Order: sequence, then C-alpha cells, then structure tokens
Amino acid sequence: MSKNLLIIKQGNNLSQSTDSILIIDFGSQYTQLIARRIREIGVYSIIQPNNLSISLLKDLKPKGIILSGGPESVHKSNKLTVPKYVLDYDVPILGICYGMQLLADYFGGKISQSSKKEFGSSNFTRIKNSKLFQEGNIPKTFNVWMSHSDKVTKLPHNFRIIGSSTNSNISAFSCEKRKIFGLQFHPEVTHTQHGKKILHNFCIKICGCKKTWTTKNKIEEIILDIKNKVKNERVLLALSGGVDSSVVAALIKKAVGEKLHCMFINTGLLRKDEVRDVEKNIKKSLKVNLITIDAASNFLRKLKGVKDPETKRKIIGETFIRVFEKESKKLKNIKYLAQGTIYPDVIESSSKKSKSDVIKSHHNVGGLPKKFNFFLIEPIRKLFKDEVRKIGKELSIPDYLIDRHPFPGPGLAVRIIGEITKEKISILQEVDNIFIEEIKNAGLYNKISQALAVFLPIKSVGVMGDQRKYNYVIAIRAVKTTDFMTANISEIPYTVLNLISTRIVNEVPKVARVVYDITSKPPGTIEWE
Ligand code: XMP
Repeated sequence: MSKNLLIIKQGNNLSQSTDSILIIDFGSQYTQLIARRIREIGVYSIIQPNNLSISLLKDLKPKGIILSGGPESVHKSNKLTVPKYVLDYDVPILGICYGMQLLADYFGGKISQSSKKEFGSSNFTRIKNSKLFQEGNIPKTFNVWMSHSDKVTKLPHNFRIIGSSTNSNISAFSCEKRKIFGLQFHPEVTHTQHGKKILHNFCIKICGCKKTWTTKNKIEEIILDIKNKVKNERVLLALSGGVDSSVVAALIKKAVGEKLHCMFINTGLLRKDEVRDVEKNIKKSLKVNLITIDAASNFLRKLKGVKDPETKRKIIGETFIRVFEKESKKLKNIKYLAQGTIYPDVIESSSKKSKSDVIKSHHNVGGLPKKFNFFLIEPIRKLFKDEVRKIGKELSIPDYLIDRHPFPGPGLAVRIIGEITKEKISILQEVDNIFIEEIKNAGLYNKISQALAVFLPIKSVGVMGDQRKYNYVIAIRAVKTTDFMTANISEIPYTVLNLISTRIVNEVPKVARVVYDITSKPPGTIEWE
C-alpha cells in the first residue's frame, strides 16, 4: 500500500480460521437482511457485487455462496449474471428468488415470464427430504414470503423439486449431490416461517461452517488486525462522541494503548453541553488521549448567510477537513488515521454494478480528502450497527455512550431551516435539551431510535401572561427504526407531548409554538434538511 493514499481495498483481512458465506448481490431490497441473518446464526457473511473478481473470490475462500434476489429477469438481454468461476467454485450454493432463476438458467432449466407479480404470503409444502429442511423441526407445510414475477417451470438435469407453493410448482429445488439449492421465497424475511432455520441448515449443515462469528471473537480478531497493521505507530481518530467512534476508540486503545490520539472538533453546531459531556464521558470511560479543537467561530463565519441545505453540508464538510488537516499536522509522527465507517456505509456506497471498494465520505467527519498523509484503518468496517453496539457492551463502554441516538455530522445545521445564527443555535440547543430530558424522564429514550428538534423559519402568534407574542415555531420528531433507511413515527403519549410542549414554550423565551412531526420515512427523511 502506498503512502498518501486514503482509499484502501476492501480485502478480506479475517484470519483464515473464520468460516464465511459469500452473498452475491443482485440488487434485492433484502440482501442486507440475508447478511444479518447469517451473522445472527454466528457465521461471518460478506456481500459482494455480481462482478467480483476471481482473485477476490479465492481470497475470501467462502464455505458457501448465496445468490440474492433482485428486480432482474433472466430473459433480459442485459441481465445481471454471475461469472462462471463463481458457479463452478466448489462450495454449496443457495439461490434465492432471482438467484434461483439464475441457477436454473445456468444449469439448463426453464424460466417462464409472468406478467403478474406474486408478492406476499404463500403456502409452501416440502415435497422430498432435503438437507435444507432436515433440522430444526421444520413442518411439512408453512407460510413463506414471495416477491417475484418469473418462475422456474422446468428443472435442470439432475435437479429435483423439494417444495411447491400455492402459485408455483417448483418453489424449491436442489441437486443434493453438487449441493446446489434454490428457493423461490425469501428465507431472510421474518414473514417466512422457519426461514432462519433454513439458512442455518444451509450454513451449518450443508456448508459446514463453524459458528465463529461471536462478539468475543470479533473483538479479538479486530484487535489483532489493528496490532498487525499499526505495529508501534501512533493512530489518530476523529471522534464524535457517538457510538461508532467511541467503540473504535475503545478497540484501538486495546490494541495500541497510549499511541491512540483522539481529536474532537467543536463545530459550534453540537447539542447543549455536548463538548463538556463528550470530554468528560470519553476521558472517564475510555481513558484515551483527547484533544478538543474549538472551531465554532470558523464554522459559523463560513455558514453566514447560507440557506441552501446542500451548500451548508458542503461548507461544513470542507471546513471540517481543513480544520482536521491543520490540527493533525501539529501532531508529529502520526502514521495512521482511524475512521468509524460501518458496513451499511460500505454497502450503500457501492452500487451493484460498481467495483464495491469505494469508501463513502464518512458521515461523522463529513468526508475526508482523498489524498491525505495517513494510512487509513477502519476497524468496524465489516459490522452492522447492532454488532457495534454489542462490541461496545462487551468492552464495558457505558450504556449512555452505546445507546445514544445518532447525531448527524453537520449537527444542528441541518436542523435549522434556512440561515444559521448563534441565536437560533442556542434556542435549538435549549429545546433539544428539554425534549431529550423529558423522553428520558418518561422512560422512552431507549424505545425511540432517534429524537430531534427542528428550528422552523417561521413565526407564529401566541399569548403568554395576557400578552401577545410573535415568536418562533419548533418541530419535534421521534422515530422508530432499525436501519435508519425506513422509519415509523414513535408513539409518544399525549401527556408526555403536552409536558414537552409546555416546558419548551415556558422555558425557551423566543419559542411560541411546538408541532409534532408525524411523517414516516419514506416519504419523509429523518432529518429535515
Ligand atoms: P435521513 O435524514 O437521511 O437520515 O433520513 C438517516 C440517518 O442519517 C443521519 N444523517 C446523517 N449523519 N451526517 C451524518 O453523520 C449527515 O450528513 C447525515 N444526514 C443524515 C440522520 O441523523 C439519521 O440517523
């Protein structure tokens, strides 16, 4: 790896002892779910695009391959396929939905086009004994979740039907000798009964994977990996005080001890008392070297007069980089830069037709420059958020750090609609503080995935103490979600909403009115800008 290069390849740096399942992504909305289910079983899984290279395949050494579903059809001339070396790689293969159709097509079966999509619940009956259904007391008939229009109508040579459903005779097939299996339904979604047992049978019974993907093993593996890479060098971590960078700090601390230096940049767009709290909490619970850089006036100066959300984000990202660059130069002899990139960031940034090793401009640090005088390490790059949280708990990072709601890199700037001023920031900080305090008092904080307040660019009439007031309007928003890609609104009881609104209007002088945002995602986003 050459120096001055921030972009690294997403290789498989797992120790050889870790069994893995390779998931080839054909663009299904459920691909991430397949990966998660397999990890829940205790087996490491990795998602790759359909055009992965033979050298990467050999490097990964998967013990099994899963072909995901997707919106494709084998009848399309420019359909997404998979290279021959993947299908000829001598490990068990499971095709799900479009993946099954691809297998049927490749091995000489027939797929029929149907103008009607079969979507939703269907009744599935096992026909022959197959290793896929052998363990876990899977009944003969159960409900499954379908989402397809094409279906397999003729089996490839040496394949047999192992299950049928209401609308398709060949709903599951196998070639037990070559260990190739196809399912028309989605075992990864919870609507499919016994789906996880089927995936368990594939990974454990058929592929022979060992359940080595445990939190303890992950921690050991990550620490060993950091030690091997970093050796005796110093590491700089841009810390935000959120769960991802806190867990990264704890892991690197375990690997390199005092050689870890954390930098926390105060953008002036943080929550009330956040600088003080982060400093106190991080120093107390993680015991790391922490440098705080107060760049608030720099950020506010650059944002003066700016109203457009995208321009705000860009300015904040660039300012962050400049500040980070300038300050990091003052720290001599630092060779490594650590980031808290997690797996969904990696997946989201690599489209199914891309080469997949692109790195997303990191959320927390607002996008670091491509050329930087550091080597990059991303210790939690392979993990989902819930896995990061489990690691945090295992490392005894206190709950208040692990269970914190996400806070966006651009901070309150994307929660103040229109121009940002010092006054609006301090109003929003007070409001946010009351809102969070009250949902904590009501025991709701951990039931809500993210709660936030938004400063609106309008004024409204109110009455206080017999006096007419013409003051700001604040929106409050609380959502429930697991992946933050979709979200439902949280049902905060009216009594609590009432208390929150009363306190805000009474305690924050320039606020006249509070509204509750009742928009799901989609169509809304979680943040307002
Ligand atoms: P949206 O608003 O896109 O947000 O529904 C989804 C999740 O991402 C967070 N978010 C960000 N986090 N930098 C961040 O670090 C950003 O620019 C950013 N924009 C949105 C948001 O808070 C939510 O958790």
